[in-house]
Amino acid sequence: MSTDLTSSLPAGDVVDRMDDPDWWRQAAVYQIYPRSFADANGDGIGDLKGITSKVPYLSALGVDAVWLSPFYPSALADGGYDVDDYREVDPKIGTLADFDEMTAALHAAGIKVIVDIVPNHSSDRHEWFKRALAAPKGSPERDRYIFRDGLGENGDLPPSDWTAAFGGPAWSRVEDGQWYLHLFTPEQPDWNWDNPEVRADFLKTLRFWSDRGVDGFRVDVANLLVKDLPEVLPSKAELDSMDRDSGDYPLADRDEVHEIYADWRRVFNEYDPPRTAVAEAWVDSPARRAKYASPEGLGQAFNFDLLQADFSGPQFHRIITENLEQSRNTGSSSTWVFSNHDVTRHATRYGLPPLNGRKVKQGVEWVAAGGPEDELDRAGGVRRARAATLLMLALPGSSYLYQGEELGLHEVAAIPADRRQDPSFFRGAEYDGLGRDGCRVPIPWTSSGTSFGFGDSDAHLPQPEWFADHSEQSQDGAAGSTLELYRAALGLRRELQAGESLEWIETGREDVLAFRRPNGWVSITNFGGDDVELPDGDVLVASAELDGRSLPGATTAWLKQ
Ligand code: NOJ
Ligand code: CA
Repeated sequence: MSTDLTSSLPAGDVVDRMDDPDWWRQAAVYQIYPRSFADANGDGIGDLKGITSKVPYLSALGVDAVWLSPFYPSALADGGYDVDDYREVDPKIGTLADFDEMTAALHAAGIKVIVDIVPNHSSDRHEWFKRALAAPKGSPERDRYIFRDGLGENGDLPPSDWTAAFGGPAWSRVEDGQWYLHLFTPEQPDWNWDNPEVRADFLKTLRFWSDRGVDGFRVDVANLLVKDLPEVLPSKAELDSMDRDSGDYPLADRDEVHEIYADWRRVFNEYDPPRTAVAEAWVDSPARRAKYASPEGLGQAFNFDLLQADFSGPQFHRIITENLEQSRNTGSSSTWVFSNHDVTRHATRYGLPPLNGRKVKQGVEWVAAGGPEDELDRAGGVRRARAATLLMLALPGSSYLYQGEELGLHEVAAIPADRRQDPSFFRGAEYDGLGRDGCRVPIPWTSSGTSFGFGDSDAHLPQPEWFADHSEQSQDGAAGSTLELYRAALGLRRELQAGESLEWIETGREDVLAFRRPNGWVSITNFGGDDVELPDGDVLVASAELDGRSLPGATTAWLKQ
């Protein structure tokens, strides 16, 4: 039923798209987790040359930009979000010359490049952290991080009882007895953003990559950075009782953080077209999120509302309406995302019992649902994921896609403990589940062969047998495959996208959502079980087989009126 209207763009269109300063407002951005995408030199780890080799694939897929998770030198204490050097490439996955070659190939194909900036913490192998350790208490070197004396007679108690995001204490002790703060693992010391050298060094990093032709930045935990740390620190219990949405919570989402992003914006605007940014900020209220997305700040912020919702008409309707209103009021454009490297893949989430408002995080739901394979409705999950994605791609704003979702991949549960890498698996606490490795397993390009075409040796995370049925090879050109659905939808989206308005169409059923975009582009989704009659118009593409003019449950169709 899906119509493949994907065509390669004429060269002129590519040039126009690359020069458009507003390209980010309605872009389809594809997230690459570099160490798990494609391994060109056969050492089991994905690399930059591997990405370059897949530019034709990305171009045929029809994405406007790629966002690369960190590729910087790192001991991988947290999958690369522990950065040793912000202005280098990890020698295990390439060189700066490889980066330039990759960027040039992507640009030639009309694809923008977004890199990940990790400003809350470095790694403990960063040159400045090593110098901080070598320098005495109270030195300028230590002031770049957050060092404190401990409590108790000998200072051998941490300065506070806070816990880190992946479990364990948020303070670690160094040789001379002082403690340093790390909101994540001990290998990720937090920067002190009150220190002018830290601020200046990040501006240098932004210019470094912008000068190399990078088009935008994804800003890791953009809401943390600035902290209010008085002499006597609040206890964990006191923190837990505070309002996180007031702008005055000591550790996150403080109003002063926006001064940093105003400085960054001035750097972005030195370039033509201006560099763009998207904030990763898990803040609860859309109003707080809007501050990150302001034109004087980062310009855009991830909206994780749909990602945390069930496959439900009323939930989708409320979230879409609220977020479009929010972005209209603030001059930003909305973002939409179902999957990324931190959460259980959406095909899997939709194959498990509904969340009913519980939080979805990093595989927890997967475990809560009764363990690996048994409770998962694999086919149903993929079917709902396809319907949800087709709806998302018709929305005004930017859609963020995560590598492998276009192959209909499920989360991989069956990874033995001794092959797992994610610190959240080992450190337990808040995310006591299987951790995030299950969505980071290397991509199956072929249906057989070593690591399913990922590279010439075993992949760094084990791939399951069922990857064979999800490979690019098995789906390329196959009518009805998830890959062909994404290609058709992304091609059509590029042709049809105009304006940022959306008009709801009354369907008489709360489990059926339909809306019209400019130029008579209509999307209709049946979230329920009973068929519904399609509205007028020619069917352009559908997420599942249609029965004449009847739209079955868990299906989306696009029409042209
Ligand atoms: C958010 C990133 O997406 C996640 O992967 C990482 O563990 C934390 N930030 C810490 O950098
Ligand atoms: Ca490699």
